[in-house]
Amino acid sequence: MTTVLQQLKPAFRIESIATLDKGVNITWKDGHESFYHNLWLLDSCRYPKSFQRDTLNLNSGHDLLKMPLNPTPQEVMVDREGNLDIVWGGEETGHHSVFDASWLRVHCQSDQALKQRSPLQLWDSSVSIPHFDYHEAMEDDGVLLLFLNKMVELGVAVIDNAPKNEESFRAIIERVGPLRQRYHPTNVFTMDRSDKKAQGIHHAYQAGKLQNHTDVTAYDIPAGLVFFECILYENPDGDRQAYSTIVDGFKLAEVIKTENPWFFELLTTEYIPAGRKRLFVEEKLSENETSGRKYEWDTYRRNHLIKLDEHGDVYQIRYSHNTRIPLEVSYDKIEDLWAAYRRFSELLQDPKYMTEFLLAPGQVLAIDNWRVLHGRMGILNPNLQRILLGAFLEEESFRSRRRILLGDKTGMSDLWLMGCSDRALEILSDRYL
Ligand SMILES: [Fe+2]
Repeated sequence: MTTVLQQLKPAFRIESIATLDKGVNITWKDGHESFYHNLWLLDSCRYPKSFQRDTLNLNSGHDLLKMPLNPTPQEVMVDREGNLDIVWGGEETGHHSVFDASWLRVHCQSDQALKQRSPLQLWDSSVSIPHFDYHEAMEDDGVLLLFLNKMVELGVAVIDNAPKNEESFRAIIERVGPLRQRYHPTNVFTMDRSDKKAQGIHHAYQAGKLQNHTDVTAYDIPAGLVFFECILYENPDGDRQAYSTIVDGFKLAEVIKTENPWFFELLTTEYIPAGRKRLFVEEKLSENETSGRKYEWDTYRRNHLIKLDEHGDVYQIRYSHNTRIPLEVSYDKIEDLWAAYRRFSELLQDPKYMTEFLLAPGQVLAIDNWRVLHGRMGILNPNLQRILLGAFLEEESFRSRRRILLGDKTGMSDLWLMGCSDRALEILSDRYL
């Protein structure tokens, strides 16, 4: 009978250990070596003295003020399951720790694979948008994970064969997580071509061409994912009116960085502020409701158009022509910042980078709103009928569901899965031979 240990790739199996002055050195079966400091090991102990196994939190008894600065193991060994087993000595005599080997491997400070970001594929107009089946994504966690992985890789996907109603639209989003609370009474918005009142409230409801943009740019934290479902499209002209457009903002950031590093620096350090204010607007919760509910809000946010993380990698794009407010920039930089902003805006319209398609009835478009900019061709024919449902999901809800599904694939217990980085979970989900 093969044990779990024998089914693991060499990277997750310990070849040998050596006890050094300050910690433990592990040589793995793939040849990689990892060093774990004694202080780190004792602090990370998952045994009940330190860690609550039901709440998956550090135990209050884990008193760092009482922890020795130089803990010393009395005995270090690899147990029959292939895990690292430490019996502590000195002031910690009687304290016992066992560390899952796979968990140790994804906490190695010298493994470069852990420092890389999740695999991204930048794209231009030649992108092939991945499609998933609504019912498969609803019923099969494996398909749902494939969909979420594509959202990380490309930032866009389409779900086909969706029932054309709000309940089903909600259901596919709630497979991932709760809908994001909006300022409006309703968390699902309806963009109906024939709704004249809505056209006076938001530019996106109007007939003209909608430039590529990210949504809710003026908020502190923009929505992570945006979902749209088309439930009606009837175009007597049969042309490309109301077709959707999308652009990979990360790709544009790369283009700008390559062609003009100064523009890239300006767009990552100077601010393009955004604002939005709505007061006393009414919205009905249902067609049967006679009196609408009022909502109001007033936001202001200074943003870099291109936001970088601590490694200098682009992690967020914020761009919305319609919600931009006067620039806040010193006069010695305004001409350069304007030129950089203009260049980004020009690239946004460039057919080389933009892809255009019909979101047909029964299709749900999912977009990573921190990366992909979306727009829409004009709706000039007054007889064109189109109804789109839309809703938001928090970035954290998306990441959370993906982390849970990746964790399920690892076959490891929550004791070890909790607190692993997204990258660590991606690696662990592929730990079997
Ligand atoms: Fe939008």
